[in-house]
Amino acid sequence: MEKRKMILDCDTGHDDAIALMVASKHPQIDLLGVTVVAGNSTLPKTLRNTLNVVQHLGLEVPVYAGCDRPLVRDQDVADDIHGESGLDGPVFPELHIQAQEKHAVLYLIETLLASEGDITLVPVGPLTNIAMAMRLEPKIVPLIKEIVLMGGAVGLGNATPAAEFNIYADPEAAHIVFTSGVPVTMMGLDLTNTALADMKVIERMEALGNKAGKLFGDIMRFTFHSQAVNGLSAGPVHDVTAVTYLVAPELYQTKKMYVQIDTNMQGPCYGRTVCDMNNRYHKEPNVNVGLAIDLEPFWDLVADTLQRHI
Ligand code: BDR
Ligand code: CA
Repeated sequence: MEKRKMILDCDTGHDDAIALMVASKHPQIDLLGVTVVAGNSTLPKTLRNTLNVVQHLGLEVPVYAGCDRPLVRDQDVADDIHGESGLDGPVFPELHIQAQEKHAVLYLIETLLASEGDITLVPVGPLTNIAMAMRLEPKIVPLIKEIVLMGGAVGLGNATPAAEFNIYADPEAAHIVFTSGVPVTMMGLDLTNTALADMKVIERMEALGNKAGKLFGDIMRFTFHSQAVNGLSAGPVHDVTAVTYLVAPELYQTKKMYVQIDTNMQGPCYGRTVCDMNNRYHKEPNVNVGLAIDLEPFWDLVADTLQRHI
């Protein structure tokens, strides 16, 4: 099987860090670069968290800093879930590496223009970088093979009753991406809230006995407690499900449907992904929506991939 070329766009973040750990070592993934956006925390913090993970695990992947705020709305962060640093829990040694000079949006544009239409984007934070790249250079749009993102929900949100955090943090950017015509697969809360790192999972990863397994434990032991605000019994690894979909789509139950982003800033549903599950609008489906995931093989895949780290 040919390797899937991908770029991870993240706002590291607990589950983002694990998504990076999986994307950087899965044998069927060719991780070209990591672009960082503000989201879970401010850009300096999400960038620092990303670089900390890269340095700690000795990853050889370029990191690019992107947009430091949403396109239109005021910035909102998720420090109730991720803590003051945006990645509370693990303690990292002093940081010696830096991001690339180039802005993430320019990196996305240049890389896609030079590609043969074979790169998949995996955004697991607010969609600001991707939307900016699409507006700055529309020629990239038909060159994106697919976008597999973490965000949204058919059902309830987690940032508000109606909206999931990544979409709520930049609804206008999400609107640009969802109406771009690029094939979009969306891993929303209906699916990702089932991928819970309970104590059994945490102990399994720690028992791998390497740095990556220990880091998984340090990370997920923190969200094990902080996710109680969402009524969850443990921390979900939301963003990881977008990465693993690339190499194991057979583990997922999905349905194509028309999905619209609510961009009415004044209303209670701002940032909601309105999913036309029962085809009430009779509109052409624009999103492949993830509904369920087969958890046992999913955790096997995560464990097998983390085992490949130092
Ligand atoms: C999403 O929001 C962030 O807090 C997580 O990293 C994930 O991408 C879940 O709603
Ligand atoms: Ca994220």
